[in-house]
Amino acid sequence: MIKHLAVAYYPEHCDEARWPRDIALMREHGIDTVRILEFAWSRLERADGEWDFGWAHRAMRLLEEASLDVVLCTPSAAPPAWLTGTYPETLCLKKDGQRDAHGTRRQYCPTSRRYRDFCNRIAAKMQEEFAAYSNVLAWQIDNELGFNRCYCDECETAFRQDIRERFGSLDGLNRALGGAFWSQDFWEWEQVGLPHPTSPSPEMRLAFDRFYSDQIISFMTEQVETLRSCGAAAPISTNLMADFPEIDLWKITAPLDFVGWDNYADQYTLAGNSLAHHLMRSLKSGKPYWTFENGVNSVSPWLQSAPRANIMHALSALAHGEEGHTFWRWDSCPFGHEQDLQGLVDWAGNPRAKLREVGQLRAILDEIAEVELPPLQPRIALLFSPLNYWGTHPYYGRAYYDGNSYKSYWPEIESFYQAIFDLGLGCDCVAPDGDLSNYDLVLAPGMCLVADEELQNLRSYVQNGGVLFAGRKTFVKTPDNTYRTTELPALGDVFGMRISESQSSEDGNDITVRAAAQSRPFRQFQLESAAGLPATPTMGWFETLELRGARSLYSYCDGYFRGETAASVHEFGKGTAFYVGARIERAAMKELMRQVLQTAKIDVVCEVPLGGQLVQRGDVVFLTNHSDQELTFSHPLLVQDSSNTPNPDGEVKVAPFSFAIMGKREGLC
Ligand code: GAL
Ligand code: ZN
Repeated sequence: MIKHLAVAYYPEHCDEARWPRDIALMREHGIDTVRILEFAWSRLERADGEWDFGWAHRAMRLLEEASLDVVLCTPSAAPPAWLTGTYPETLCLKKDGQRDAHGTRRQYCPTSRRYRDFCNRIAAKMQEEFAAYSNVLAWQIDNELGFNRCYCDECETAFRQDIRERFGSLDGLNRALGGAFWSQDFWEWEQVGLPHPTSPSPEMRLAFDRFYSDQIISFMTEQVETLRSCGAAAPISTNLMADFPEIDLWKITAPLDFVGWDNYADQYTLAGNSLAHHLMRSLKSGKPYWTFENGVNSVSPWLQSAPRANIMHALSALAHGEEGHTFWRWDSCPFGHEQDLQGLVDWAGNPRAKLREVGQLRAILDEIAEVELPPLQPRIALLFSPLNYWGTHPYYGRAYYDGNSYKSYWPEIESFYQAIFDLGLGCDCVAPDGDLSNYDLVLAPGMCLVADEELQNLRSYVQNGGVLFAGRKTFVKTPDNTYRTTELPALGDVFGMRISESQSSEDGNDITVRAAAQSRPFRQFQLESAAGLPATPTMGWFETLELRGARSLYSYCDGYFRGETAASVHEFGKGTAFYVGARIERAAMKELMRQVLQTAKIDVVCEVPLGGQLVQRGDVVFLTNHSDQELTFSHPLLVQDSSNTPNPDGEVKVAPFSFAIMGKREGLC
């Protein structure tokens, strides 16, 4: 259940005289928590060690008097001018050799000892100043960590150290990172540098990705430890982003007390957003989590947002296990980079229609507060691997995004998740070396880079009776981003096949197109099934499979590889292993997933209509309709409608932008 309804508030952005009215309006609309001070460094410390906490205390006192709880943010995402002016080495040195400049945010070097010291100092100061308030509910470190890769000397020294610790010997380093190629061997540690060239090797690029993620995590952890050592009692988190590829999400959440993230829901598909919630819940093994930002409108002022969309996103979050829900932001700021973005009140502090919706959400939350939602206990695990976020963008994204984009791993895993979402099922996300024993089905899309222990984990999972469903180009590389030199995929005996061809469908052979000097097209192939599955086109990275005991599920029926197998299934040990070597369209993927689920003995819950979402929690299902049409959900579990009338057909109609909680027990709404 959502226990805290919060809003991001920046008291330094408006006249102090307006604060009482803001706070009264917040209370009136059911907001109980306020997140503050996120970028306020230049107002809290005007010059080195010259503190000005007077105004912040006045704001804190008003909030405390109004019984509003507070999430305090450390302001380290936005260094003040005196700091970067006096110590320019704290600014990020970009790849092109330019120093970043004052006038934006996230322009700091995450490695800089000096910068970390200043950040830790203000964190400690904040704890000291605010220790006496009774309403400090939580801490947030920084803002959306990531996106400040730095190429300065300090980063280079730290990188060299990291490489040295990781590989131990120069021989080991050269072997692991392929030094023999293009004379890239290092025969002295001092030769190891940051991957400056425009096109570093895939191995060096990955080594830097990993290093950078670790720098961000240690930057954050220092602040966490500073706060704790200064006596901060409130739990500490940060606002992550589910589909930001920069940081190892498993690793960054370890030092935190709870998971927090920013949900700009309109940046995702409905299924993608549901997956993001499952991921965030999974990062701390199912512990309730927060969203620290939910865009009042969109992340872009130019995108339309439907009335009640905010209410629906909040209810969807609640269904997935969220405990704190924060709107971003209270007001629209008349100045600065985001002056066009809209808040719950306008530039003058006058309520907008969206504020009324917060009041409506509050009323809904109060109304359903008594409903006991059993814990989510999905029987499906989806492997989530930050390493593959970094390592796979040349493969999965090409047909959908430009080749330089990191946004390729997410669509790959989402295409698997979409199929279970469409059948009313959810998942936990699990690290590839995590405990799989609670799951009847493990989805393994995008697992190109894989460690030996992870392979062992999956092998014994299938051996012991589990069902594994892997996607194209999985289990073919080492964690250092070199190809494995055994037959591929590395679990070939588990899948009962080997990959014989692995290619992109970007077509270099079409002479007519090349002569016309257009860009090369992606060729679409057709797949047909001898296993009763619908035909489907495929595009992008694809493979042909040589069967060695497995049965074919799909084969190519046109193109250069006509007749070759594209997807297979194989029994291994007490379990079953499915492999699909091509991207399958949504409708066909749903049918393939149905077969996979049947093998795993997992019942399909419901055919979820487009625009709808179903989250199952024990014997309760939570239905949300995110569309402007009435939707019908049908399933025997749905025995009551929202007015508690019996519903023998198991059909539930849900009004546009509305919801229903259904279950076999009495007393649900
Ligand atoms: C978020 C960020 C906020 C604000 C917002 C604009 O990602 O955390 O500070 O910039 O985007 O939509
Ligand atoms: Zn640096």
